[in-house]
This record gives sequence, C-alpha cells and structure tokens, in this order.
Amino acid sequence: MTDRYAVIGNPIEQSKSPLIHTAFAQVTGQDIEYTKLLSPLGEFAQTVDVFRAAGGRGMNVTAPFKLDAFAYATDLAPGAQMAGAVNAMKFEGDKVYAENFDGVGLVRDVVHNLGCPLQGRRILILGAGGATRGALLPMLAQGPAEVVIVNRTVAKAEELADLARQHQSASVPVRGVGYADLGGQTFDVVFNATSASLTAQLPPLSAAAFAPGCLAYELAYGKGLTPFLKLAQQAGVTRLADGVGMLAEQAAEAFEWWRGVRPDTAAVIEKLTVPLV
Ligand code: ATR
Repeated sequence: MTDRYAVIGNPIEQSKSPLIHTAFAQVTGQDIEYTKLLSPLGEFAQTVDVFRAAGGRGMNVTAPFKLDAFAYATDLAPGAQMAGAVNAMKFEGDKVYAENFDGVGLVRDVVHNLGCPLQGRRILILGAGGATRGALLPMLAQGPAEVVIVNRTVAKAEELADLARQHQSASVPVRGVGYADLGGQTFDVVFNATSASLTAQLPPLSAAAFAPGCLAYELAYGKGLTPFLKLAQQAGVTRLADGVGMLAEQAAEAFEWWRGVRPDTAAVIEKLTVPLV
C-alpha cells in the first residue's frame, strides 16, 4: 500500500519538498505519496489530526508552524528540543515523534557536499533566530575552534551562546556579540542565518570578517547572489554557497528516518540549483 506523507505550511505553494521526496522515492524504490498540505492559520493541530486519521505516516513542517509542531509532538528528539522547533514528524499510533533536521542537513552539506570540514575552523554565524538555534549543536559537534554568533540584538546572541554552552558535549568556545564587537577578527566559515536575504537586505557585517580561503554560506535558497554573498565576493571570497544543499540534505535525513534508506542527494541538488549570479 502507498504510504502518505506531506509538507504542511501556509503558504505552501513554494515548497520544493514534494519534488525532492518524490525523486528520493523513485531512486530508492519506495512506494510513497508526498503532497503539499495548506493549513489554515490557527488550525495546525486539526489539520494534522485529519491527515493522521486518514493514514498519514509523516510530515515535514514549514513556516509558520514549526513551533505548533513542537507543541503537538509527544516525543521530541534532542535536535528538536535544542532548536525549539520541529521540521519533521513521524506518526505511529498515538505517538508523534518529532525531529529538526535543518542543522544536521546544513552541516552535512558543508562537510560532505562542499568538502569543507568544520573541525578546527573559526565559525561566524550571522543572526540569532530559529535558523541559528537549529544549526548550533550539529556545528559544535564537528569540533570547530570557536563559534561566534553575531546579531543586531546582542542580547539574543548572548542568550543563544549560553544555551549552546549548556547543551554541547564538547567544550568549544561560543560567544554572542554585536556587529560592532567583531573588530578585525576573521573567520574561516561565515554563515548568513539572518532573514535579511528574504528582503534583499545586508546585515551590517564588515568585509574584513572573511579570512582568506573562507567559505561564505547563505542559508536562504534560490535567491541568487544575495547582498551577503555579494559582500563576500567583493571581499575576494571564491567559495560561495546557498542553502540548496541544506534543503536537500535535511530532506534526505527525514526520508531515511521515515523509510530506513538514505537517498543520494546529488541529482536533486543539481536540479534545484539556482545560479549564484
Ligand atoms: P528565523 O527563524 O528565520 O531565524 P527569526 O527567528 O525571525 O527568523 O530571526 C531572524 C534573524 O535575522 C534575527 O537574528 C534578526 O536579527 P534581530 O534579532 O536583531 O532582529 C536577523 N535579521 C533580520 N533582518 C536583518 C537585517 N536586515 N540585518 C541584520 N540582521 C537581520
């Protein structure tokens, strides 16, 4: 029998998840149907209840419901706990298992697909919202030399740094600072995890922050050369990436969690790649 999955959000038209999971199902020979599910705002739980009652096996969760899914879950994995948000659910009887694979997907893209080990590197993360929160533990697990979180609202960066220090198993130095505090410090990998790119804005980052040979990684997907990537390029950075690989890798994590088989992501990444121009 065909097993049913969906991605739930509002809006949902833009989601690439059905395309990705359908491609994964084809190459792995899994008999699944994966659709888009538009939930009215304020009716997340009812919409999921109906999907489960009709035999739905699992869901991805996108904006604005990642916190609703956190509240709906019966069993939160550590990654979801730390992220404070859920992007994948698995339904088994009364149980709602919940995960957040965004951070793991990001790290896998950087280390595996882009061939940039994070061990021993100096990492700078722009932004202290949900995207950063989800990425912190998987990044720290790679053993970087240090992680600096920089944010306009400095208190949020400091709070996240505290949280990361409490939860990490290693003892990587983690600091939360403001943009003006960066001084002349340079970094080997710089992630833009702010929402600034969605409105074509540039965080107030000095071009001096990029160390020679640096990787500049924009977590947003499909926006081309965002102001952040342009800044990096003008600073001489040649290794530029956007979130297409992260998108594919978090999907592969969810697919493996649901189906027990890990799909290769290369074909999907190639298909979804939007040139960085
Ligand atoms: P998400 O869940 O996508 O991370 P969020 O929780 O709303 O979204 O967080 C957005 C982040 O982008 C915040 O860190 C925000 O900075 P503030 O906390 O100071 O508001 C950051 N951000 C958004 N627009 C920005 C801009 N133009 N410049 C710098 N940072 C920006």
